[in-house]
Amino acid sequence: MKRLALLNSIISLTWMAIGLMIILLVMPAFISSNKEVPETAKTIDVVPATVIDDALAETYALGKTLFKLNCASCHNKNMVDDMTGPALSGVKDRWSDFPEKDLYDWIKNSNSLIEKGHPRAVEVWEEWDKATMNAFLNLTDEEVEAIVVYIEVV
Ligand code: HEC
Repeated sequence: MKRLALLNSIISLTWMAIGLMIILLVMPAFISSNKEVPETAKTIDVVPATVIDDALAETYALGKTLFKLNCASCHNKNMVDDMTGPALSGVKDRWSDFPEKDLYDWIKNSNSLIEKGHPRAVEVWEEWDKATMNAFLNLTDEEVEAIVVYIEVV
């Protein structure tokens, strides 16, 4: 009798083990099939070139308008010849040792950066016989960014 009970429990344990294995084998397939990326999400990171161009064109146009209004009186529109202020072509490179925010801060309020002793600010200010550039506190970050995009593209 004892033997039979032992046999029975071995058999039922085996079945349980088989059942567990089936579950373990089937579940992952089931879970991963649920995680399948929908067809639309797969294509979402492929942005059509026209969208980028449109966005860039808009930024560029805004930058151009703002540059003409605020900067062109001192900075040459061709970006390569000096005027009252230096040619601005390649300005991002000249500020590349610093966070981009510093260049934006300069454009908004150059004096504040000079007073803080910012190395690039002091350098360009001394190169230009300590001339003063207007502050443009009314410009937003987006507007300053658009101006910088315009400067870089010209
Ligand atoms: C009144 C003249 C004047 C106006 C207007 C002006 N700037 Fe300037 N800018 C200067 C001068 C002069 C310098 C040289 C540094 C100095 O002496 O302050 C300069 C320097 C700069 C520099 C640093 C260049 C470098 O190589 O590091 C940037 C960037 C700049 N200006 C951007 C602008 C932008 C953008 C505008 C318009 C929003 C503007 N400036 C309007 C006169 C002007």
